[in-house]
Amino acid sequence: MEATDQLAAISKYTSQKLAGDATGHGIDHINRVVTNAKMLLAEEPSADYLITLSSAYLHDVIDDKLVSDVLSAQRNVESFLSSIEFDPDQVQTVMFIINNMSFSKSLTDDQHPLPLEGQIVQDADRLDAIGAIGITRAIYYGGHHSEKIYDPKIKPRTNMTKAEYRNLDNETIINHFYEKLLKLPDSMNTPVARKIAKGRQKTMTTFLEDFKAEWNGMK
Ligand code: ADP
Ligand code: NI
Repeated sequence: MEATDQLAAISKYTSQKLAGDATGHGIDHINRVVTNAKMLLAEEPSADYLITLSSAYLHDVIDDKLVSDVLSAQRNVESFLSSIEFDPDQVQTVMFIINNMSFSKSLTDDQHPLPLEGQIVQDADRLDAIGAIGITRAIYYGGHHSEKIYDPKIKPRTNMTKAEYRNLDNETIINHFYEKLLKLPDSMNTPVARKIAKGRQKTMTTFLEDFKAEWNGMK
């Protein structure tokens, strides 16, 4: 099978798995991550195109916040990839990337360095969590999970474990910026993503300044 046909099949697989998502992890998110990954690939010619884009398409279909049975979702992706003629090494590499690239994984003791292809997809995903899109997705996600918009009495959490991070009791949308989103620009792997992230950081800090000024009736 040609790589283009394999990627078309993977795109269709992901669309089916994430159909109906109302948490900011729908196919529009996936398509933006793929677009970001293509842009980063142009700057990193040694990265494998098929591995990078397959991982970009599949990075959220095994996520524990989106599927109830992670193991079975993983088995399903593996057999799907074999069915479209990925060889065992390619399957293993894609699975390694999608299992190890998430922010929540970085809060655990079980961390493994990503290959260049994984670093690109991680940057592509993180770029979609910041800036104007990032602000919108955080509000969308927070609303879906009944978070408060803001409460100055509730302080942002620090040094969270993954379990604490996933516990949304007493979480506010504004605190999510301090707990995660504002930290992402410094965590970028590739120079181009780092540069784009700097601009998006400015968008978020301006938004937070305006938000607080308006909250306090000063604007
Ligand atoms: P990862 O998939 O890398 O582990 P997350 O699980 O944090 O990352 O989810 C990805 C996106 O979901 C975030 O970038 C953000 O837009 C949104 N999100 C996650 N947790 C929250 C939260 N508590 N409040 C608002 N938005 C959130
Ligand atoms: Ni994602």
